[in-house]
Amino acid sequence: MAGLIPQSFIDDLLNRTDIVDVVGSRVQLKKTGKNYSACCPFHKEKTPSFTVSPDKQFYYCFGCGAGGNALGFVMDHDHLDFPQAVEDLAKRIGMDVPREERGPGNRSRQPVDSPLYPLLAAASDYYRQALKSHPARKAAVDYLKGRGVSGIIARDFALGFAPPGWDGLLKHLGEDPLQQKAMIDAGLLIENTETGRRYDRFRDRIMFPIRDSRGRVIAFGGRVLGDDKPKYLNSPETPVFHKGQELYGLFEARQHNRNLDEIMVVEGYMDVIALAQLGLRNAVATLGTATSEEHLKRLFRLVPSVLFCFDGDSAGRKAAWRALEATLPNLQDGRRARFLFLPEGEDPDSLVRREGTEAFQARIHQQARSLADYFFEQLSEEADPRSLEGKAHLATLAAPLIEKIPGANLRTLMRQRLSDLTGLGGEALQQLQPAPPAPPQAAPMDSPPPYGQPRSERPSMGQRRSSPRASRAASGVEPPNLSALRTLLHHPELAQKVENAGSFAAEDDTYAQLLVALLEALQKNPRLRALHLIARWHGTEQGRLLRALAEKEWLIAPDNLEQQFFDTITRLVTRQRERRLEHLLQKARLTDLSADEKDQLRRLLSRDNEAAPASTSGL
Ligand code: CTP
Ligand code: MN
Repeated sequence: MAGLIPQSFIDDLLNRTDIVDVVGSRVQLKKTGKNYSACCPFHKEKTPSFTVSPDKQFYYCFGCGAGGNALGFVMDHDHLDFPQAVEDLAKRIGMDVPREERGPGNRSRQPVDSPLYPLLAAASDYYRQALKSHPARKAAVDYLKGRGVSGIIARDFALGFAPPGWDGLLKHLGEDPLQQKAMIDAGLLIENTETGRRYDRFRDRIMFPIRDSRGRVIAFGGRVLGDDKPKYLNSPETPVFHKGQELYGLFEARQHNRNLDEIMVVEGYMDVIALAQLGLRNAVATLGTATSEEHLKRLFRLVPSVLFCFDGDSAGRKAAWRALEATLPNLQDGRRARFLFLPEGEDPDSLVRREGTEAFQARIHQQARSLADYFFEQLSEEADPRSLEGKAHLATLAAPLIEKIPGANLRTLMRQRLSDLTGLGGEALQQLQPAPPAPPQAAPMDSPPPYGQPRSERPSMGQRRSSPRASRAASGVEPPNLSALRTLLHHPELAQKVENAGSFAAEDDTYAQLLVALLEALQKNPRLRALHLIARWHGTEQGRLLRALAEKEWLIAPDNLEQQFFDTITRLVTRQRERRLEHLLQKARLTDLSADEKDQLRRLLSRDNEAAPASTSGL
């Protein structure tokens, strides 16, 4: 298998690529001042909120939040994997992509061309063929007919039939033992650990292939024909299938219509199928898991509106609330979510077939509630706003959730409504906001102060904060290390002014660790820019964080950033020194220090009030 692409090549490639060309060859761009704009290719809109910045070599959509560098754009726009996008950009400018030997430490990420894909495709073909011609097919065909599924829908969803018997698929595909091993990895075969016997996972079931956004089969769901248990059997997690992220029917919905306005989220395979059968081709289902933020992120990239369809029973209500919670952090202004609760005992499949398409649509029209309405209704049930105590409780429950909404307008409106309901003003509600998440710390003595509060009574350079209020206004409620990361990303030249990045390398806060890593990379190679740094961490948590930070800065005034940055660095260095000092003092109480350690201790004690280690000039 091909090795990894060297970072230096990616840096070089991005250096030689102009994002305006890359985007411009796929989307009609219009020059607007320094930047270019267009209607966003990632969501449907009438007025352009998609921006490309030649300076920053970034694109960003103010409507849907999509954003990134040239590589990210090609990946998302052309539905390519990272290495494929690199190949694509390299080809444009006539570069060959070199590959590194894979070292033992470099575990491969999800393989681009996993051998499981063709295997799963072959299995899907086998199941489809069996539905057409297997001797036992009649029961399956009758079952589907009985549920109103037409040939067209069976074709569009590539429905199949796993015949009865233990080894139909095994015999069909698994001649060779290596292939059988791959079939186990793909979740198609099961191996009995005691006897070593291998057999088909799916037997005598209707088969629903689950396809990824590029249409590749990545897993299956299988339903029994009768009332046996379990009713549904799904593929296990495999290298190509991560249940919590996938949505059944999304590929099919997009195949049918690339410009959907709304996607409906339902619970089951057959709900998706029945709705499609009756002309509502925009339904998707989670795969027996709760709706996640990842699901919503994916959906809102494609459509501005999501409609959740849940049972009206208590399990349905619980699932709906979880869906709401997963939606909040994805609610940029311009996006919306609606909730439809179905009558007791009905699911979308039974209901749409009983009352027909038009009545079902009318029901959506009349009964679907906006997220905001549902939000306050539900919370008012938990905390009755007619009493003072209820009002207080309501505010406590609602305020932190409202703060998760990224859309400033919606957030303001929700705050206002909470204020109307409870009579509590903005100031009081502000205090209910959750503290920023504290990074995990090794020892209690190292706990950082809550943001904006001094660390200890002992004055030190670290607390010299020019204006805590201004900093908060400039960067929102955000840990200082995170602000520092953002600043560095946008002003990489600052790295050259930091003298001792290595001296706080022992930080255990993830933000601080990343900060050190960025500083080191930049000090080694001062020409790196934000896009290189992001490419460097591409595909990792850190990469996502960097990318999000790089995009966010556009909306925030660069007020006092440099001062804050050096304050943070100073604080980290100071803290590291305090930690070392504490460690040595403690050790000295128990045992003799080495000459080296004594020396260090002496220096640390005398340097306690030394000047800031980082330059603060150039403000
Ligand atoms: N599910 C599952 N495993 C199960 C049961 C359910 O993965 N053992 C998932 C399936 O995606 C299923 C959905 O949960 O479609 C809803 O399950 P359920 O309400 O039990 O079934 P229905 O979708 O109503 O199934 P049907 O209409 O086919 O009876
Ligand atoms: Mn059902």
